[in-house]
Amino acid sequence: MASHILVIDQGTTSTRSVLFDASARRVAIAQTEFPQHYPQFGWVEHDPEDIWRDTLATARQAIEESGVPARSIAAIGITNQRETAVVWDRATGEPIHRAIVWQDRRGADRCATLRADGAEDLVRARTGLLIDPYFSATKIAWILDNVPDARARAERGELAFGTIDSFLLWRLTGGAVHATDITNASRTMLFDIHRGCWDEELCRLIGVPMAMLPDVHDNAHVYGTTATDLFGAPIPIAGMAGDQQSALFGQACFDRGSAKSTYGTGCFMLLNTGTEAVSSQHRLITTPAYRLDGVTTYALEGSIFVAGAAIKWLRDGLGIITHASQTNDMATKVPDSHGVYMVPAFVGLGAPHWDPAARGSIHGLTLDSSAAHLARAALEAVAYQTLDLAEAMVADGGSRPERLRVDGGMAANDWLCGFLADLTDMAVERPADLETTARGAAFHAGLASGLWSGLDELAALWSPDRLFEPSMTAAARAPLVAGWHDAVARTLSAGP
Ligand code: G3P
Repeated sequence: MASHILVIDQGTTSTRSVLFDASARRVAIAQTEFPQHYPQFGWVEHDPEDIWRDTLATARQAIEESGVPARSIAAIGITNQRETAVVWDRATGEPIHRAIVWQDRRGADRCATLRADGAEDLVRARTGLLIDPYFSATKIAWILDNVPDARARAERGELAFGTIDSFLLWRLTGGAVHATDITNASRTMLFDIHRGCWDEELCRLIGVPMAMLPDVHDNAHVYGTTATDLFGAPIPIAGMAGDQQSALFGQACFDRGSAKSTYGTGCFMLLNTGTEAVSSQHRLITTPAYRLDGVTTYALEGSIFVAGAAIKWLRDGLGIITHASQTNDMATKVPDSHGVYMVPAFVGLGAPHWDPAARGSIHGLTLDSSAAHLARAALEAVAYQTLDLAEAMVADGGSRPERLRVDGGMAANDWLCGFLADLTDMAVERPADLETTARGAAFHAGLASGLWSGLDELAALWSPDRLFEPSMTAAARAPLVAGWHDAVARTLSAGP
């Protein structure tokens, strides 16, 4: 009897494959980083062939290291960096351009035009999103406008668009299935999250032929079966979800009012709002969290573009650390950030500012500012941004969650979790398994393949590691937060 779930977690900087057993315990993991391409200022691209190669290699490695034969794998779940757009030739399966990554800002002018033409309300009402180059639509339009003959070929149905999940599904099934799930579809700016279908009017407005769009299914759904030659036995692909929605699911945030924040390349905080699609008045996103048996559960999302990426910059850009884990000690070595604030707008600012033209800044430097202060400011920025999101969620009518579940690589940093609790005045709860993104996709695949029976069983599989209780007084918090708001105001492209 098949008893394991293999998850492919394709992130912004790395691809990993994780094998879970029937108790949702991790039995093997294989991971590899892949190259980032920055062809111009504000542009970010990935080679889909790198992603495919690493997907196969890590999946095979995880299977081999575990000793679990492919026929014992009940299903595959896929979770992925969202919004990143791939366009490929249906006949050959070859991408016609490198993938345009979610961080890429090249659609900013097109977005400004859409806003000037008064499309904001329409986009908001149908998709739950704000107009921003972060989402896939203007990336697809750019490819069609810049690759010779692409638009005509897309209109003739010769080209396919997909987010990374969809591209991997196509490749894994040997080109047999062109589909995506509701969470990934909802990040394109072309999908009506209330009717649950592609929106013809938006496709026309932004210039994306509907013939190139994938079919959209529930998250727990048998999408197809892997080509037999890939793993030695055919394996059903039975779960797909964008990584942030997958992390919410993996954190067992099934109740309305429960929330999680994931600290990966960026930071994404999602608050479960149940079957109600709450429309934000404070520039958050309304997004499907998951759809099971045709019933959609929604979330309010705050998207911060840079969290771990700032730490990577300390390592690769500034060279003041050699490993991310050093920031924990550096932050505790100094009593405070000594008035230094880093606003990591490296690729513009996301929620709640949505300013693609903003660029990163460091404020409050003095001659005695040290590397430790900078490292601490980079970590603090992650917490300040989370606070901004939490306040926007409360202002949107949600009550402040008593507990915030955290995950992602940076959540391993004890100092950060403590500061986050102090600043947001919420208890921060860290799970035993920080691979919650992969776990969410495993849960979906396990539901669809019958390994697990339902949400109650999944909730029982979640186990805590540590709870960080807030201990900072409001009086101590206020000047810190005021300093942050001042630094952000100076960073916005329109100025303070
Ligand atoms: O929306 C972008 C997000 O899905 C990327 O996630 O984990 O690669 O930072 P991550």
